Amino acid sequence: MLALHGGTVVLDQPDPHFVWPVVTEQTRRAINRQLDQTVSIYDRSGIFKEFEDDFAHYQGAQYALVTNSGTSALFGIYEGLSLGPDDEVICADYSFFATSGPLIYLGVRPVFCDVDGNGNLDPDELALLVSPRTKAVIVTHMWGVPCQMDRIVEICARNGIALIEDCSHAHGARFKGRLVGTFGIASAWSLQAQKLVTGGEGGILTTNDREIYVRAQLQGQYNKRCREEIDKNHPLYGYALTGFGLKLRAHPLAIAMAAEQFGNLERWIVQKSIYAARFDNALREYEFISIPKTVNTSPSWYAYTFRFDPAAAGIERELFVKALYAEGLREIDIPNSMRPVSDLPLFSAPEQAMPRLRHLAPAEGRTNRTNPNSRNYWGSAIKLPVWAFPEDEGLVLKYIEGLKKVCDAIRAGEFKNSASRA
Ligand SMILES: Cc1ncc(COP(=O)(O)O)c(C=O)c1O
Repeated sequence: MLALHGGTVVLDQPDPHFVWPVVTEQTRRAINRQLDQTVSIYDRSGIFKEFEDDFAHYQGAQYALVTNSGTSALFGIYEGLSLGPDDEVICADYSFFATSGPLIYLGVRPVFCDVDGNGNLDPDELALLVSPRTKAVIVTHMWGVPCQMDRIVEICARNGIALIEDCSHAHGARFKGRLVGTFGIASAWSLQAQKLVTGGEGGILTTNDREIYVRAQLQGQYNKRCREEIDKNHPLYGYALTGFGLKLRAHPLAIAMAAEQFGNLERWIVQKSIYAARFDNALREYEFISIPKTVNTSPSWYAYTFRFDPAAAGIERELFVKALYAEGLREIDIPNSMRPVSDLPLFSAPEQAMPRLRHLAPAEGRTNRTNPNSRNYWGSAIKLPVWAFPEDEGLVLKYIEGLKKVCDAIRAGEFKNSASRA
């Protein structure tokens, strides 16, 4: 009998069941070492240089730049491309708001594109949205499952549009064997606490484009770094002392931690892929569940997000999750911060908060696109953590047992029977 109906729970273990980041003795040593060296780095030296070199080498990129957040890394790319009023950038409607938030700050109009069955930007929809004002497309590899990059690359190339990747969920993920973050003109990663590679807070961008690198530095890393890195003959060298008026520099302790965590990335992804395959195998038989579509991709499994169809199941998603929770599966989550972003006031009415953005106010009589797939994805998604260590196998098996128990109960009509008993 289901625990929800008074039966025995599957997993009787206090939570949390999933702890991230994983702080080991090695992590502490890396941070302490940095503490003994310096807690502020003004130029491209020390741990900044070390991590940027390692990350750029891994990504096969010419330049990398650490920042104080993933949001700042994205902001740096947009400033790097000199985007401003009159420009449009196509973004996925389903994402975290930080993907497109900095565009608003720059007065750029984000155009929100509908998504595919993984919550990723849909290439068919993208093709319909390109206009003469489109300067760039930014994709987000949601939950670590890469977007359909071959089609997106082709559409951008055909239309002469810059392609940017938000890889904040997807450190180390691959599409057709090629690392995400290598398909466009520039890419950004968050290094925030929940991310696969983390320093608690932080971000990094990579590019092969010297101009983007220079402008991104000028935006947030004024004085010493700019003076040392930017060619004295560059037309913007005169701004090296002040930059563009902001300071978005990373914290060395955060980067020391991220550099240490980065060394585990490939090993974690291998283990996560094993567990994700187990979730796939356990869940694919249920007609009311859609597992992530991973053809051509090697995800990083930031999370395992599947979709629940209440009509096919005969119960609401919330009741399904409540039943799983009752079985002791406390890490089961209905994601909410990842959502359709276009109707958030920051995007639907930015001018009301920041009057300088009057030009972004919706034109009279113009209605926003509704992006139904983005809403459906949001309304049906359920998220599980993907553990990264062989020692976690017991927990993973318990989560699978709990999931199957509740799914089998749905099939057996137990929820209907309990409703009629009530
Ligand atoms: C997809 C995505 N993009 C960007 C960001 C912003 O990163 P940060 O929080 O480091 O600014 C996040 C952070 O959660 C994210 O999930």
